Amino acid sequence: MLEKKIELNFNIARFSELESEDQELIVNAKESLINAYAPYSGFLVGTSVLLENGEIVNGSNQENVAYPSGLCAERVAMFYVGAQFPNVKINTIAVSVFSKGFEVTDIISPCGACRQVMAEYEDKQQKSIRVILHSPNDQVLIANKVQDLLPLMFKSPHLKNY
Ligand code: THU
Repeated sequence: MLEKKIELNFNIARFSELESEDQELIVNAKESLINAYAPYSGFLVGTSVLLENGEIVNGSNQENVAYPSGLCAERVAMFYVGAQFPNVKINTIAVSVFSKGFEVTDIISPCGACRQVMAEYEDKQQKSIRVILHSPNDQVLIANKVQDLLPLMFKSPHLKNY
């Protein structure tokens, strides 16, 4: 049996240590929380996507009483980008969270489905997408590419190998 290892790289920082462009994107993501529709979980997620043309697209989680019909903030924003700016590359996505029910102290990582969507857009545009995860205690995790959050992703060529 062959043992293989995967190296993942990311940085942890305080909000105050970041460059102003990253700080502004986080503030945007945080402000987008206000538009979250999360009456069922009370868990608010805001996201801001910075495109290479300088455009910023915001998203927030949108829940539904038929639970699986809702959508995470990251996919709300990423799909909007795909629909409105199909040929513009994504530089960075920032995500910020807040819970009405408890104090969030951990850095919250996007769910697997959101990582898969981000990873495919990264693959499609052939350019890394930086991911900035912001916790309410002002701790920040930065990954320079989505691949660092989703090793062994399912890719489109895999569909053609049967
Ligand atoms: N949520 C997101 O918006 N992004 C994630 O990556 C994880 C979870 C939302 C979905 C749901 O509205 C709430 O958080 C609780 O799962």
